[in-house]
Amino acid sequence: MPAEDPPVHDDPGTADDPDRSEERLARDAYDELADSYAVNVRENAYNAHLEFPGTTSLVPDVEGERVLDAGCGTGAYTAWLVEGGAEVVGVDVSEEMLAHARDAVPDDAPAEFHQGDLAEPLEFDDDAFDGVVSALALSYVRDWDGVFGEFRRVLRDDGFLVFSTGHPLDQFGPDAPDAENYFEIERLTKEWDVEVPYYRRPFGELLRPLLANGFRLDDVHEPQPTEAFREQRPERYEKESTHPVFVCVRATAE
Ligand SMILES: C[S@@+](CC[C@H](N)C(=O)[O-])C[C@H]1O[C@@H](n2cnc3c(N)ncnc32)[C@H](O)[C@@H]1O
Repeated sequence: MPAEDPPVHDDPGTADDPDRSEERLARDAYDELADSYAVNVRENAYNAHLEFPGTTSLVPDVEGERVLDAGCGTGAYTAWLVEGGAEVVGVDVSEEMLAHARDAVPDDAPAEFHQGDLAEPLEFDDDAFDGVVSALALSYVRDWDGVFGEFRRVLRDDGFLVFSTGHPLDQFGPDAPDAENYFEIERLTKEWDVEVPYYRRPFGELLRPLLANGFRLDDVHEPQPTEAFREQRPERYEKESTHPVFVCVRATAE
């Protein structure tokens, strides 16, 4: 029997007010961050030499496959999937991020982009995709039963899902002083150039909604920094080689 969803700590009570929803706040933040993110995702050691290699190592051969890039941001994964021979549909809540994503692939690439909210039902037909990739986007969505249920619906049987997110240990350690209760889903805020609201959750709440919504777990990967990371950020290499920052998961639609 699946466990009950843990209560959400510090729920700001915005769910009834669509103008103040967390998804909308995240969208507004990413609209502002879009220009810097487009550069960072290629140059920042944490993206380029830690998360990206970790997540892509789990993605199977995509030649000829139709893949949903859920929370595609500025299109780093879309471009990589297109290079691998996939036809890609990128979805993101932020129009500013999508504007960069459109520039990240050649004009004649088999890629299309849609503005959409992963916290809502997806606009696609059942069985529309062979695979779903979702990198670093799910922490902005509170209800993972809803989003995994939708991923399962739009995936064909045996289709793959690969996602990455912040590691629950990293989000509950000394670097996250606002986190209070490991076992709850907590709404916290990251201070980048703007405040970005997100949800941290216990490790079990990464996997329970997956297994409860028609997926079989294939692999869990906690990436460690690459040599390129060491060259770019030698002062962070020791710490990130001994403390997890991201977790990457692959599952199959049953
Ligand atoms: C950290 S970026 C990751 C982008 C891209 N996947 C990558 O790895 O480069 C997070 C992205 O999630 C998007 N996002 C946040 N909340 C979302 C939601 N509810 N629905 C769709 N996209 C969302 C943001 O707009 C942003 O582009």
